[in-house]
Amino acid sequence: MDEATLRDIPLFSKLSRKQRKLLALRADEVDVQPGKLVCRKGESANELYVIEQGTAKVVRDDQYLDELGPGDFFGEMGVVDDAPRNANVIATTPLTLMILTGAVLRDLEREHPELAARINATIEQRRHWLEPAL
Ligand code: CMP
Repeated sequence: MDEATLRDIPLFSKLSRKQRKLLALRADEVDVQPGKLVCRKGESANELYVIEQGTAKVVRDDQYLDELGPGDFFGEMGVVDDAPRNANVIATTPLTLMILTGAVLRDLEREHPELAARINATIEQRRHWLEPAL
């Protein structure tokens, strides 16, 4: 993937061009068809996904939790907490996703504490929404 794609993603907007280039080298990109289950509740997690294009819905059992779109990320709870996926995430349109493995994410968080803080704040908020289910 190229550095310019990362420029449009709020999570990475504070990184320098050079830092985005380095990150782009370490990230993968995948295209996903509508209807595809990207995260399955209960499965072990080793990847965080960032939506470059398209939308996905977050569903837990029969409960609809959220709709995510370009610039949003998901899968962070499982990776950061080293825990099973909390919900299903399903593509609702064709999706282009950036994939960060746990190892890449950990390096990134170590190098950029403000990025880690942003991810942790999202986890806190989502955890709150998942209660009382959790
Ligand atoms: P994870 O638990 O790894 O896999 C499922 C993902 O769904 C989870 O990480 C979050 O990224 C996302 N998710 C869980 N709960 C919510 C929520 N309430 N709102 C939005 N996204 C959520």
